[in-house]
Amino acid sequence: MKLLYIDCCITLRGPESRTRALAEAFLAAFRETHPAAEVETVALESLDIRPYLLPALREREALAEAGDFTGPVFALARQFHRADKIVVAAPFWDLSFPSILRVYIEHISACGLTYHYEADGCHGDCRGERLAYLTAGGDFEKPDSLGVLYWRQLAAMFGIPRFDCVFAGGLDVDPERVPAIMAEACERARALGREF
Ligand SMILES: Cc1cc2nc3c(=O)[nH]c(=O)nc-3n(C[C@H](O)[C@H](O)[C@H](O)COP(=O)(O)O)c2cc1C
Repeated sequence: MKLLYIDCCITLRGPESRTRALAEAFLAAFRETHPAAEVETVALESLDIRPYLLPALREREALAEAGDFTGPVFALARQFHRADKIVVAAPFWDLSFPSILRVYIEHISACGLTYHYEADGCHGDCRGERLAYLTAGGDFEKPDSLGVLYWRQLAAMFGIPRFDCVFAGGLDVDPERVPAIMAEACERARALGREF
């Protein structure tokens, strides 16, 4: 079984990153209960990807229309497509997440490979059974927090039936409350990682 870890833990806090703390809690627990699983990491900070503009978009479209998904432009989409389980960790930035994660989403959203259309709309084609989204925010979590909604809907679009989320919220409100918020959120991340 392969877990794809999408690491978007871009931070000004170095080793004190709250997002990374959630990811490490999740991954440590996952590895404990799934010793045979392979964890493959996509480190977004060291990935050379750009937003799609013309002519790259036209070139990718032509390959997709020809049904040729073997080339390097589809490498990230193929990797996402074949993962059994996926965990994404990203800080809450500008009401969603860092833009490099949006660029990554452009690269994995390949019509004909990770999803396709039928008469009744969009259908997902990814192999993944589960996707978890881990995020840390200065403000408190809200029912309509965009990063969470976005990943919930992406999971559905890609045909990944189960979505879970851990949001460590309110971290820039009162510094005294941060240790307690993080302890509780890391415990949720550990519990999710254990049963993931
Ligand atoms: C560029 C940037 C944008 C941010 N935007 C938001 C925001 O829109 N809403 C929010 O609640 N917090 C926002 N924050 C605060 C972070 O979510 C918060 O500090 C979080 O702990 C960052 O994760 P980290 O500790 O892993 O760096 C922002 C922080 C940065 C650096």
